[in-house]
Amino acid sequence: MTPEETFRRDGFVRFAAPGLEAWLAAARRLTAAAMACVPADHPQWRCGGTWFVGLDILPNDGSGMLPGAALPPGLLEKVGKISGSPPPLHPAQVSIVRPGYPVDDGSENPAAARFRRNRAGAHVDGVRPRGPEKRRRVEDPHAFVLGLPLDSVTEGNAPLAVWKGSHLVMGPALADAGAAVGADVTEAYKEARKTVFETLERVHLTGEPGDAWLLHRHLLHGVAPWIGPPAAERRVAYFRPELPDVAAWLRP
Ligand SMILES: [Fe+2]
Repeated sequence: MTPEETFRRDGFVRFAAPGLEAWLAAARRLTAAAMACVPADHPQWRCGGTWFVGLDILPNDGSGMLPGAALPPGLLEKVGKISGSPPPLHPAQVSIVRPGYPVDDGSENPAAARFRRNRAGAHVDGVRPRGPEKRRRVEDPHAFVLGLPLDSVTEGNAPLAVWKGSHLVMGPALADAGAAVGADVTEAYKEARKTVFETLERVHLTGEPGDAWLLHRHLLHGVAPWIGPPAAERRVAYFRPELPDVAAWLRP
């Protein structure tokens, strides 16, 4: 099966990204430099200081190039072949998880804290809950999620949880609910998510620096708890390039 076929069927594909060493080294160095200026009470530190969201932390350009280190030739071409040509890249996110994640620090209600622990905080990017009623609309469309581990990611240190094939449930449900015209999709989203939990397999993405994970934009995913012994934090860089509109996002 080709990577394109795997991606279409499962909603994700893992592959080796040869030649990534220099970029990873630069990303580690720049992440450390950025984090040296981040106070412990920074709003992107969540879950009792066990997760730093890390939005826009890397100073890469639209091609992903960091100062002195380009992405290896062929990586974005491969991504484009699998999921469609990417729009220009944004400054990459670096998600940092520390031992004990997720610590319940009381900032989430008990149901949300349970959902984070038991269901890995599963979500589809771009369909965030808003306001006290937690209503959802598609309002942050982007092309895909490309994950590049900066550290070894194992079953023990908060791997990325994905639900295999969930893009084929979530995407059509949101389209049918009128996401294209800005409709409130809260009920459709919850119903589709429930179907996914009841019928599809949860898979944990683990890997080493030099691996790449490509997720379909409609794939249900989240971060599994840190269940291993305490060890150094683990970091994963993510590219989620923005799409111009929700209609483009809704395409399968
Ligand atoms: Fe996400």
